[in-house]
Amino acid sequence: MSVRDNAGQMRESATEVLDEIRQLKESLGGNVLIAAHHYQREEIVRMADAVGDSYRLAVIASESDADVIIMCGVRFMAESAAILARSDQRVLLPDFDAGCPMADMTTRVAAERALDAIKEQTGTEAVPLTYMNSWADLKALTGERGGSICTSGNAKKIMAHYLDAGKNILFMPDRNLGINTARALGVPDHEIALVSAQGEVSADCAGKRIFLWDGFCPVHREFTAEQTAVLRVTHPDIQIMVHPECTEDVVASSDAAASTEGMARDIERAGAGAVLGVGTEYRFVERMIREYPDRTIVPLHTAYCSDMDLIAPEKLLQVLRGVAGGDTDRFLVTIDDQGREDARRALAQMIAITENS
Ligand code: 13P
Ligand code: SF4
Repeated sequence: MSVRDNAGQMRESATEVLDEIRQLKESLGGNVLIAAHHYQREEIVRMADAVGDSYRLAVIASESDADVIIMCGVRFMAESAAILARSDQRVLLPDFDAGCPMADMTTRVAAERALDAIKEQTGTEAVPLTYMNSWADLKALTGERGGSICTSGNAKKIMAHYLDAGKNILFMPDRNLGINTARALGVPDHEIALVSAQGEVSADCAGKRIFLWDGFCPVHREFTAEQTAVLRVTHPDIQIMVHPECTEDVVASSDAAASTEGMARDIERAGAGAVLGVGTEYRFVERMIREYPDRTIVPLHTAYCSDMDLIAPEKLLQVLRGVAGGDTDRFLVTIDDQGREDARRALAQMIAITENS
């Protein structure tokens, strides 16, 4: 049945949209892989061939044989898939407006300024350690300068790798993931310096080993230590897990910090009867509540990522119709050749350190 929306346009009903997605998927077969991040809407997750955190999505893209990978997530995830995919594979993104305010908080030019300033102040080059939540040109700079990408699931391993090698690190762009990871590795305060969002480094850099970019995720900044305190009063047996993009005090007031994949695993392992508090994007939390009715799962707070939310089923359907009709240009994610090689090196370095240490 078609329905008329507020603007008077004829639109398919939600059921029709999902039915057509299923039919197109079946007719396109193994040529198309639909990958979805954990923060995607329930209907998108149901239509996906693979669901994961940023790390898993990158590995899936690097290993898939499909001709077309449709990335249901935000633009930096699609860019990373395009960097890692073979040159004869196409990576498609249903909505190019699905950005990330945290990724916008660093530019390549500002990062170069910071790397130069650190060298000038300390006399040594710092290695860039760049969070997946960044644009392709920053990933390319990271590869050019011998650094690595990291995700929330492997930041600790990769930061430890460079610290053990005696390197100073410029960690971009998430200050919270950086400080939470440094804390988990026992790096003392006096070895950590802050870098402004313009790439300015304070003059007092003596003895600093980790330089943290001053970026953050507005969604995870909505979580507070007061919320964890309230949950401990209302649910005395609760185990609280949060995403490491939350501030340091929120992580300190919780029992664990993990990537979305790590939280999904911990919720599964907690078993029937567990009482769990979860501090991350609400689409993920509500799906966990639905999937595990025998556990009590309570959000710290309801916070949505409006960029992730842009990937509506209707948009996925448009992409699949485009693939079936040979018209995919407007969804195609492209990366320039030089940038692609450098960025690929930084992503490959992440996968190598994660899998081999
Ligand atoms: P994960 O890698 O933990 O899924 O996080 C991605 C993200 O964007 C969190 O805001
Ligand atoms: Fe970016 Fe935060 Fe949304 Fe993740 S949740 S995509 S970091 S705005």
